[in-house]
Amino acid sequence: MPTAHDADLAFAVALAARAGELLTAGYEQTLKVDRKSKRDVVTDVDYASEAMVIKAITERFPADAILAEESGREHGATRTARGRWRKRTWVIDPLDGTVNYANGIPFFCVSIGLVEDGVPVVGVVLDPLRGDCYAATAGGSATLNGVAVGASEKDQLGDFVVSLAIIGRGGIARERRVAHEIRIGRRMGSAALALAYVTSGRFDAFVQNGGLSLWDIAAAGLIAERAGATVTDLYGGPWWNTTRRGPRLSIVAAPPPHHGKLLALLRQARTTVETRR
Ligand code: IPD
Ligand code: CA
Ligand code: CA
Repeated sequence: MPTAHDADLAFAVALAARAGELLTAGYEQTLKVDRKSKRDVVTDVDYASEAMVIKAITERFPADAILAEESGREHGATRTARGRWRKRTWVIDPLDGTVNYANGIPFFCVSIGLVEDGVPVVGVVLDPLRGDCYAATAGGSATLNGVAVGASEKDQLGDFVVSLAIIGRGGIARERRVAHEIRIGRRMGSAALALAYVTSGRFDAFVQNGGLSLWDIAAAGLIAERAGATVTDLYGGPWWNTTRRGPRLSIVAAPPPHHGKLLALLRQARTTVETRR
């Protein structure tokens, strides 16, 4: 069924494909890798991908604003008193999973989201190596390479394979407590791609209790929601919050019958929102 943002979606899918070509061309090549912090790195491919994406958006939609990870700025965005963006704003992670990428681990993606009237309305997450493109619009279904997909339909939480990252002090012990109730937890190193996996049941659920920024989740959060998953923050509140500064966002995404149980397990393990790994 056609939705209000089909043209924006088509633009974002084509743009992600172009960014994906840059990522693929640079993969396993000699890279300039700079340290951002003790655990974070950035490569010249992150910058090249972001510059290309920003240029393409600015040319096609000169009135729109852009929030992109590496420039760290809200290009052209103005906010209401409540912190909402006034303009349509594209939210970009030009390479999610940079540590994987720089180390030759083939699990990374490009993430492009569009926010309108304060909420994500278009999301595209592309894994360029597999050629997997997850996409959704606010009014439409979630798709993988154009085919509608849905979140996991497993009956038992005990059968769940979960993208599970409980960061901060005591995180591993908390993960162990959650792990008792599921089949297994995995930490993949690209939050956007792992969250997109919830869309087609490759992951049955996704948990990360912080360390996330708007560009990590804008696209994948919407796609997971449109696939039928319940997506919230760690406390069951809205997952999309543009007033949060720094990497302070958390996500719990799971099929509706199991989402509450996961929240309860995290609460019982006294999990709080953390900013660092
Ligand atoms: C990071 C990855 C990682 C997640 C971090 C993100 P980056 O993004 O998604 O899996 O745990 O919170 O910052 O730096 O690779 O774009
Ligand atoms: Ca990221
Ligand atoms: Ca990134």
